Amino acid sequence: MNHLPSQLLQLLLLAAALLRPASAKCHIAKRGLSKDLLLIGTVLTSDGALLDSTILIQSGRIAHVGDICGLGTRGGDASVLNCTGSVVSPGFINTHEHISFATVSPFPDIGERVGHRHDWRLGTRNYTMRAVAVNGSDAAATAWGELRHLFSGTTSIIGGGMVPGLARNLDFRDGVEEGLDERVVIYDTFPLGDGLGMMRNGDCDYGPNPIDRDTAIGYHRYIGHIGEGIDVEAANEFTCLSNVTFDTTPALAGGGLSTDIIAPNVALVHALGLTPQDFDVVAARGAKIVWSPRSNMYLYGKTLNVSYLLEAGITVALGTDWLPSGSATMGREAACAASAANESFGAELPPKLLWEMATANAAVVAGFEDQLGSLEVGKLADIVVFEGGSRERGAADPFEQAIFAPQEKIELVLRGGKILLANSEVEDLVSGTCEPVAFGSSDKIACVADELGSSFKELEASLRGVYPVVLPELPPDEPTCNAAIWSL
Ligand SMILES: *[C@@H]1O[C@H](CO)[C@@H](O)[C@H](O)[C@H]1NC(C)=O
Ligand SMILES: *[C@@H]1O[C@H](CO)[C@@H](O)[C@H](O)[C@H]1NC(C)=O
Ligand SMILES: *[C@@H]1O[C@H](CO)[C@@H](O)[C@H](O)[C@H]1NC(C)=O
Ligand SMILES: *[C@@H]1O[C@H](CO)[C@@H](O)[C@H](O)[C@H]1NC(C)=O
Ligand SMILES: *[C@@H]1O[C@H](CO)[C@@H](O)[C@H](O)[C@H]1NC(C)=O
Ligand SMILES: *[C@@H]1O[C@H](CO)[C@@H](O)[C@H](O)[C@H]1NC(C)=O
Ligand SMILES: [Zn+2]
Repeated sequence: MNHLPSQLLQLLLLAAALLRPASAKCHIAKRGLSKDLLLIGTVLTSDGALLDSTILIQSGRIAHVGDICGLGTRGGDASVLNCTGSVVSPGFINTHEHISFATVSPFPDIGERVGHRHDWRLGTRNYTMRAVAVNGSDAAATAWGELRHLFSGTTSIIGGGMVPGLARNLDFRDGVEEGLDERVVIYDTFPLGDGLGMMRNGDCDYGPNPIDRDTAIGYHRYIGHIGEGIDVEAANEFTCLSNVTFDTTPALAGGGLSTDIIAPNVALVHALGLTPQDFDVVAARGAKIVWSPRSNMYLYGKTLNVSYLLEAGITVALGTDWLPSGSATMGREAACAASAANESFGAELPPKLLWEMATANAAVVAGFEDQLGSLEVGKLADIVVFEGGSRERGAADPFEQAIFAPQEKIELVLRGGKILLANSEVEDLVSGTCEPVAFGSSDKIACVADELGSSFKELEASLRGVYPVVLPELPPDEPTCNAAIWSL
């Protein structure tokens, strides 16, 4: 029975459904002969949520999205996973991480908000230097970070580090997976070469090898930390990268010239020091912004007026920054985005908008929008299923259920159609080495050992006691997102 007509498939599915008690979770409705997978559920798209819709996955890519009738003869031999009432979303894309620091617990809040990143990084201007001690090897810490994101619905990361397998690392040729290595993101923490702590006001005498226009323009995507701070020194960084005539005197040791890299292939991480006029330049040039509100609020007591950016037409994507000052998961970053926008600017950001910042917008920022970021035919099957809050139609906003979901509510994580995490109910569908992992009261199976090179439990044991990968709804010691009073 190779290609069943879709009517017959539907009859079989109906029969199977009648024989089985109603469940609020995904369940296997049919075991197919092929490796194809048909998902049924509420499918999130930029045009809205499609109730009782289907997605056919063949060879790691999406072969059909929409009504089951549109399948025709395809999918007749697919396994069917009935997730009715659950929400099917593209995997999140985290556009800002420092993933090799994933075993460093959140910084304790000493009540200090600073003016510029060098103040906490290096203790400049009499601020407290924040120590960053990575537990475990770089590889173990990075794997740990990728697992935390995967287990919370993030399938791609731009994070300055990588391990093979697990999440896609869009800034590494060897980390993109599935042969997408042609145009990785160039991800830069110190575009001005200011890692040693240079802060300037009125000139561009930073490090000897800053980014320049000719170099940046040659990259498919250049994503750089620019203006991380709230003072004139932070604003000066943008001027040095957007105004060629600002500093035309070279520095003796090299560098020292202003340049202009602001273009559609560039995204600015943080951009906290930029003025509204600066954002007008960003908008006019088609450059993008990576927004990390929790880290902004925790370190500087302030974040972007994102409404201004959106009104100006700027594409904004979310990124968690890193565990010590940012969010442990994309869901927690979105929660902070919503509350910071409300508390600081009285702006209400709809869940669908936040979801776009974690999916389609993030794919555009990363330059992978033809492969990732939405559930469309031909794209990679990086898919996450979130448990629905209610089976009744229209009872809850499905975008809200996806973007704010705690880990416990994640029913399925696929990367390129491969099951990496699932509810234990769907165990019969997985191949490879899987192991049980409890997410709160929900029993899951993690199928990461083949890519990890050890079991999840073994890695966990080797890192004994570091900040966990499986988190409750409110992660412990989470850096504050409350609008803080800023004082010198
Ligand atoms: C999927 O499950 C729901 C609820 O359990 C059921 O009403 C529906 O008929 C099932 N659909 C298919 C195609 O099995
Ligand atoms: C730092 O503290 C020292 C000692 O109190 C003081 O002399 C100096 O001016 C301070 N520097 C800054 C930049 O505030
Ligand atoms: C660029 O810098 C020059 C020199 O400081 C200044 O005169 C000019 O106004 C700046 N241009 C913009 C667009 O800010
Ligand atoms: C934030 O941006 C919005 C939209 O441009 C604007 O109306 C509002 O005044 C801004 N708020 C602040 C505090 O700058
Ligand atoms: C926004 O903030 C106000 C005042 O703090 C609060 O009453 C309201 O519930 C918040 N709205 C949302 C959507 O969080
Ligand atoms: C992590 O490393 C720091 C510094 O070496 C150490 O003090 C701490 O105890 C370690 N934490 C764990 C959980 O191993
Ligand atoms: Zn960063």
